[in-house]
Amino acid sequence: MPESPVRELRELVTGLSAWLRYQRRLGLKALPGEVPARPKEETGREEPIPTLAEIRQEMGKCRRCKLYAGATHLVFGDGNPAAALMFIGEAPGAEEDLQGLPFVGAAGQLLNNLLNKLGLRRDQVYITNVVKSRPPGNREPEADEIEACLPFLLKQIKAVRPRVIVTLGRVATQALLGTREPLTRLRGRWQRHDHIRVMPTFHPSYLLRFPKERHKTWGDMQQVMEYLASQEEDWGYVSLIV
Ligand code: URA
Repeated sequence: MPESPVRELRELVTGLSAWLRYQRRLGLKALPGEVPARPKEETGREEPIPTLAEIRQEMGKCRRCKLYAGATHLVFGDGNPAAALMFIGEAPGAEEDLQGLPFVGAAGQLLNNLLNKLGLRRDQVYITNVVKSRPPGNREPEADEIEACLPFLLKQIKAVRPRVIVTLGRVATQALLGTREPLTRLRGRWQRHDHIRVMPTFHPSYLLRFPKERHKTWGDMQQVMEYLASQEEDWGYVSLIV
């Protein structure tokens, strides 16, 4: 017999709840074998929401716009499929096109540094782009290319169900929010997509060219981290890893 069964039980419960909080913080939304609750559609019926793997499968060898002709890989997305924090960039560059992964070139290195400074690892967040195939010569994606790819981004958001989306640069911000407002007016101010908070900020490529602006993105990310932390407090969670 344990010395004090009550004390032993209390220690077990404390340990288990700390572990669950830690897993939640890492993005776990359900335990293995448990189906995460999905929002009901307006009909009141539960609509199946495709998983990231299903969305990727649906994209297939995409030829929905002209970009496929010059692309090596379709760059779908990377990271935690149930992340609380999602980053959306513009389109793959040369290095991303070669590796088939988003933000693995110079801009990606800066994004990684930012995440590290925030106490986050890349595999804790989800990273994708508005357009999944590389535009030639790294030009901006054109309206028809964005239009062809946007439905898949919207499905990815539904699958991941992040609490916050950070849009990196003007193209991602305007595409997601469906606005022509300049980034200078949107950056650093909370916006919404569906019921999800959106924080527009500078693109890492811009920050590579204008390092003096980095403190602004840092400030934007502080707002994001404060909001995520406040959410945890609302649910009675204690931050264990930041
Ligand atoms: N720039 C982007 O917008 N996305 C990438 O994946 C890389 C660079």
